[in-house]
Amino acid sequence: MKHAVEISDKIYWIGVNDMDTDLFEGIWPLPRGVAYNAYLIDDEKVAVIDTVKKGYLPQFIEKIQAVLGERSIDYLVVNHMEPDHSGSVKILRQLYPKMEIVANQKTLDFLRGFYGIEDGIKIMGDKESIDLGDKSLTFYMTPMVHWPETMMTYENKTQTLFSADAFGGFGVLQGGIFDDEVDLPYYENEILRYYSNIVAKYSPMVQKALTRLSDVPIKVIASTHGAIFRENPSYILERYDRWSKQETEKGVVIVYSSMYGHTQTMAEAIARSLACSGVEQIRLHNVSRSHLSFILTDIWKYKGLILGGSTYNMKLSPYMDMLVSTLDNDKLKNRVFGVFGSYSWSGGAVKALRDYAEKSGNQLLEPVVEAKHAPDDNSLDLCRQLGKNMAESL
Ligand SMILES: Cc1cc2nc3c(=O)[nH]c(=O)nc-3n(C[C@H](O)[C@H](O)[C@H](O)COP(=O)(O)O)c2cc1C
Ligand SMILES: [Fe+2]
Ligand SMILES: [Fe+2]
Repeated sequence: MKHAVEISDKIYWIGVNDMDTDLFEGIWPLPRGVAYNAYLIDDEKVAVIDTVKKGYLPQFIEKIQAVLGERSIDYLVVNHMEPDHSGSVKILRQLYPKMEIVANQKTLDFLRGFYGIEDGIKIMGDKESIDLGDKSLTFYMTPMVHWPETMMTYENKTQTLFSADAFGGFGVLQGGIFDDEVDLPYYENEILRYYSNIVAKYSPMVQKALTRLSDVPIKVIASTHGAIFRENPSYILERYDRWSKQETEKGVVIVYSSMYGHTQTMAEAIARSLACSGVEQIRLHNVSRSHLSFILTDIWKYKGLILGGSTYNMKLSPYMDMLVSTLDNDKLKNRVFGVFGSYSWSGGAVKALRDYAEKSGNQLLEPVVEAKHAPDDNSLDLCRQLGKNMAESL
């Protein structure tokens, strides 16, 4: 998609595909790449909504010029200052010096700190609007979804919501850019991965934003990553509502650490017991093998979570420790937990997992299974019992 794509009357998608970055935010794998979406409204006043990551500026400018030719930009709306979207703000300002930056009070500090920009900024408050001629923009403050300055921009005539990161996901756009053009389940999974990796911690603020938008008629949702929803915006609104309420599906994620296979044997006994008890959605992860990104996606989806730890230097293994600390930070709730593990002389892993499960306020199932050395028949029976109890509790 070399040039801009018209998404509705005189509103253009001017985003770019990033196939080069391995890790989003330096953390999250991008096996399918990621798109940075930006938009242009060609009206009496020309408005650009968000920019793209710095390295993609040439393609971005090419798309802008394909629509505008020699004409200038009047307003650059900055919904979100994370550099995957604000990265081209400084150079765009240099290319279009008269362009006013439209932002909110909280954006000011970021604009100054990241790009040294202090002038030519139009500050908008919640529900304030600017007129473009035929169209007009109204701004909704949605702080902490997922940065403090985040806002959404609503175009009144076409009822298009430019939603910043909300409703967006990983995965480049592969020709299709609308929900009715793309393989939606493929994108849904990448939206959930984005949600669980990046937005999950701010679920209560997502709920606030959804409430804030509940009386706004939305025909099109155009986020900063991934497909644009024009056929069925409620598809993604409903999912965001569920994910941010931490409503889950029937299924169980088992995540374990194992150096020499003892804890894995226990994990497999539990998994087998779940399958025999009729659970179809079982996701078994070796915490050292599966990237945290994909483990979190599964955990955000399913109700059951069974954590298994082998004791390493008196405590959890480093990767299990990282997972538990991430779940604690994300305030995982509405889950049913199971805990198991092994040790040889001091123990430590099972205690750490039990402590986390109890502190989290989630339901912790009996039995908590702890094997000394290799799991014996009794330990394996208890593992099967745990699987059965989990299946019954879903
Ligand atoms: C490097 C290393 C460190 C360990 N540290 C401890 C420890 O601090 N306390 C303990 O009780 N067991 C410790 N163990 C023993 C393991 O926790 C125990 O053998 C366990 O059953 C291993 O399970 P796995 O086969 O699933 O890795 C350690 C084992 C290894 C290899
Ligand atoms: Fe962001
Ligand atoms: Fe983003």
